[in-house]
Amino acid sequence: MSQPVIGVFDSGFGGLTVLKALLEVVPEADYLYFGDTARLPYGSKSVETVARYACEAAKFLEAQGAQMLVIACNTATALALHHIKQASSVPVIGVIEPGAQRAKLASRSDKAVVIGTEATVSSHAYRKALSALQVEAREKACPLLVPLVEEGWVDHAVTEEVTRIYLGEAFADGFGSADVLLLGCTHYPLLKPMLQRVVPGHVTLVDSAESTALAVQNALCSGEDARPCKSISQERSSLKFFVTDSAEKFKRLGALFLGQKIDNITHVDLKE
Ligand code: DGL
Repeated sequence: MSQPVIGVFDSGFGGLTVLKALLEVVPEADYLYFGDTARLPYGSKSVETVARYACEAAKFLEAQGAQMLVIACNTATALALHHIKQASSVPVIGVIEPGAQRAKLASRSDKAVVIGTEATVSSHAYRKALSALQVEAREKACPLLVPLVEEGWVDHAVTEEVTRIYLGEAFADGFGSADVLLLGCTHYPLLKPMLQRVVPGHVTLVDSAESTALAVQNALCSGEDARPCKSISQERSSLKFFVTDSAEKFKRLGALFLGQKIDNITHVDLKE
C-alpha cells in the first residue's frame, strides 16, 4: 500500500511547528501543507470568517489528494472544527483535544493555564475540553506573541518582558498552583526555551503540536480510520506547500518554524 497523504492546514506559517512534529512522529507519510498566508491572522477574526476560510482550505487539500486532514491552527480548530468535519469526507484531527488530553496526563493539580489567540480564548474551546477531563483551566489571550515570533524575536528581551506580564497575570489569583502551561497557538513552540525560564519552576509545558502528531500516529495505526501500520512503507516523506500569499516570504519565514529549508511551494488563489 502507498504512503498515507496527510493534509495540514494553518492560517499561515505557525502550522509548520505541527508539521515539524508530524515529520518526527510519522516520517513515512506524504504531506500537503496549506498556509492561508494572504488571510492571516485568524486569531482576531470571527467564527463565520474563520469557518469559511478553513472549509475552503480543507476542500482544496482534499482535492489535492489528502486522505486525512490535520487542522494545525488552534484558532481554526477552536472556532471551526465541526464545520470542517462537516465539509470534509476524510478524517479530520484538530489540535485541541490532543493538547487537552496531554495536559490532563501532565497535571497533578488538575489546574492548567492555556495561552492562545484572542479568538481561541474567547471560544473557550480549551476550557471546555479540559473541563470534560476534570481539569480546571484559566485561558489567557497573548495577542502580542504571534507578531513577535513572526518578527523572529523568539529570544528577545522585549518578548521575554511581554511574556512575563502575560504569564504573571495568568498564574495569579488562585492559579499559582496550576502546574501545566498548555501552548494553545502554533507559534508558541518556538518560545519554549524562554517560556521555560519565565514559568514557575513546578510548571510543565505542554505543546499541542507534539500531542497532535501523536494523535495522528494513533489514528493511522489504530481506531476507526486505521491504515495497517505495517503496510506503510519506510520511504522518506514528500512535502508540498501551498500558500495564498508570497511563496518567497513563506520560504524565508517558514524555515524558522519548520527548522529546515522549504522548497516545492505553489501559490494558490482561493476564489471566494
Ligand atoms: N495559527 C494561529 C493559531 O494557532 C495563530 C496565527 C493566527 O492568528 O493566524 O491560533
